[in-house]
Amino acid sequence: MAPRLVWCALRMNLADPAFVKDQYRDGANLDARIALHERFSTSTRDWHAWLFDHFDLPDDARILEIGCGTGALWHKNRARVPTVWRLTLSDFSLGMVETARATGVSADLAQSDAQTLPFRAACFDAVIANHMLYHVPDLPRALREIRRMLKPGGKLYAATNGIAHMREYFQLVSNFLGSEPSVPLTQFTLENGADQLVKHFARVERFDFDSHLEVTEVEPLVAYAMSGFTGKQLIGNRRVETLRRYVAERIARDGVFHITKAAGLFVARAG
Ligand SMILES: C[S@@+](CC[C@H](N)C(=O)[O-])C[C@H]1O[C@@H](n2cnc3c(N)ncnc32)[C@H](O)[C@@H]1O
Repeated sequence: MAPRLVWCALRMNLADPAFVKDQYRDGANLDARIALHERFSTSTRDWHAWLFDHFDLPDDARILEIGCGTGALWHKNRARVPTVWRLTLSDFSLGMVETARATGVSADLAQSDAQTLPFRAACFDAVIANHMLYHVPDLPRALREIRRMLKPGGKLYAATNGIAHMREYFQLVSNFLGSEPSVPLTQFTLENGADQLVKHFARVERFDFDSHLEVTEVEPLVAYAMSGFTGKQLIGNRRVETLRRYVAERIARDGVFHITKAAGLFVARAG
């Protein structure tokens, strides 16, 4: 009984401010996770290119990205960004803002919290909030702020994950730890996101990214695990070598470790 109680108590709440602050101090953890997806995706289309494919914006668009992380969306699509677009990239982590700035992306950069955006109302054609709304403690407040930033007819682009995302990975970690399978507690998923967005936006569409992971190398999966809550809180550096052997045996046995991905994008239009 005791291990189960410990596991439940340690379940990751993605909107816990202390976890989020520590996790995104700089770009290292995020880079490890992006690397696994980029290296082993079954999709022929790059995730960031796929996101960019969905942008339908004026020629002279003003765009605000919140929770921009390392700015990967912009440096990956550098050649596609019209020079007349005006970008503002923001994140509440100063380390992330500095990392994004260091990429040389042509944008204004700001450290700001999605719950209190320090920009003039109704001056953006688009707000982009990718894989970050599940981290915001007061999500309705952030959605009101995003809506406030948009011009009439402006759009929110918000990528997130579904509940099946990475389920074999969570199962693997559970087996390794000898505990119950668990997935992160998340407040904004592909399944529940539209219901929350329709309270603030006139029209909401959902697009799913068709991709899974076929992992054939040990180290990127170990780095993925150690970059997040499971590695830092549940596994710990002392057990990383045991985890490495565990993952190696699994990949050697099956040749490939299949991981379900459930990622997609909401496009929400302001009335
Ligand atoms: C999973 S990363 C996603 C980064 C980027 N959007 C991407 O898709 O690569 C989440 C980012 O949201 C930022 N973040 C978390 N909570 C935030 C908040 N309340 N306001 C602004 N940014 C936040 C984190 O610092 C981190 O950079």
